[in-house]
Amino acid sequence: MRFESEGILGVLDSTKELSDSFGRIAKKLRISITDRCNMRCIYCMPFNNTKWLSQKSILTYEQITYLAEIFASLGIEKIKITGGEPLVRVDIISLIKSLSSIKGINSISMTTNGILLKDRVAGLKEAGLESINISLDTFNRTRFKSISGIDGLDIVLESIKSAVSQNLRVKINTVIIRDWNDDEISEFVEFSKKTGCPVKFIEFMPLDGTKIWSENLVVSKDEMIDKINNDFGKLSPLDNDKADPARLYRFDNGNATIGFIPSITKPFCQDCDRVRITAEGKLHTCLFEKKNYDLKALLDKGKSDKEIQEYIRNCILEKPEGIIKIIKNHSLEPGINNMYSIGG
Ligand code: 5AD
Ligand code: SF4
Repeated sequence: MRFESEGILGVLDSTKELSDSFGRIAKKLRISITDRCNMRCIYCMPFNNTKWLSQKSILTYEQITYLAEIFASLGIEKIKITGGEPLVRVDIISLIKSLSSIKGINSISMTTNGILLKDRVAGLKEAGLESINISLDTFNRTRFKSISGIDGLDIVLESIKSAVSQNLRVKINTVIIRDWNDDEISEFVEFSKKTGCPVKFIEFMPLDGTKIWSENLVVSKDEMIDKINNDFGKLSPLDNDKADPARLYRFDNGNATIGFIPSITKPFCQDCDRVRITAEGKLHTCLFEKKNYDLKALLDKGKSDKEIQEYIRNCILEKPEGIIKIIKNHSLEPGINNMYSIGG
C-alpha cells in the first residue's frame, strides 16, 4: 500500500484541521463497514430490501485503514465503526487492531445490534475497542420481534451482560417511537440504574428506509424528561461535551446517568464534529444530506495521499448547516436518508 512505502504521516501536512464554512472542526469519523444487517428495524431498514452492495464495491479493510490514517492526519481523533450491522462482516477484529494502531486516534468504538456480540467481546476489547453502543428498544420479546424482525431479545441481553462483565464501556441506544415503545421509558431508566449502562434515548429521525416517519411518531426529549421526572424524581443536566449529541442527565437522588439525543426537537448541528464514510467509500459530511463524495474512486485511480487529503478538506468546506436548516424550512419528510447505509 502506498502509505507504507511513503510513510503517510511524514508526507502529509498535519497542521491543518478539517474545518467547515461554519467554523466547525471535524474530530470524529464514523465508518460504516457494511450496509448489511441481520435485523430489520422498523425505523431503519426498508421492508423489502434485497439489494445489498456487492463485495467488490465495498472498501477493503486495508482501504478503510488507509483512509482512516489520512483522516487522522487531518485531525480526526475518534473513530466509530457502524453498519448496517458491523459484526456481520468477517474478521472485524483485525480491522479494529489496525485502526487502533493509527497515530492520533485515541478512541475506537462501535455501534452494534448485539446479536453477534456475546462471543466476540474479549477479542474486540483486546484488539483495542474502548466502548460499544448496543441497540435495544424494548424488553418485551414479542415486541422485539415486531420492531426488529427477529426473536433476539435474550441474546442481546446476554451480549450486554457479557460486555459489561468484561469491562467494555457500554451504552444502550434506544429509539423511542410513539405507540411502539414509549410506554417502556421507565423500564429503560430502571435498566440503566440496575446495570450502570447509560441508556441514550434517541428521537426518531427521518432516516428510515421504511418511510414510516412522521412528526406524530416523535417523542420529544422534553416529553421523555417529564415522564421520567414524574416516575423517578428530578433529573439534572450534566455539563457535557458540547460536541456529544447525547445530552446527559443524572438523578438528584441516585447516581445513574441517562442521555437523550434530541435530533429533531433540539438539533445540535452547530456543534457537530462528525463526518462519515459509507461501506462503499462515500464521504457524507452530514447525516441529512444526500450529496456525498466518492473517496473509493480516488483510491481506485491511484491518487496521491496529498491529493486525497486536499480533496477531503474541500469536501468538508461544503458541509451543510444540517437538519436545523431542514427544520427551519419545514421540509422534514420520511426517508431523507438511510441510516443503514450511512451509519449511525
Ligand atoms: N432514528 C433514530 N435513530 C435511528 N437509528 C437507526 N435508525 C434510526 C432512526 N430512523 C439508530 C439505531 C442504532 C443507531 C445506529 O442508529 O438505534 O442504535
Ligand atoms: Fe440493523 Fe441497526 Fe438498522 Fe436495526 S438499526 S436494521 S440493527 S442497521
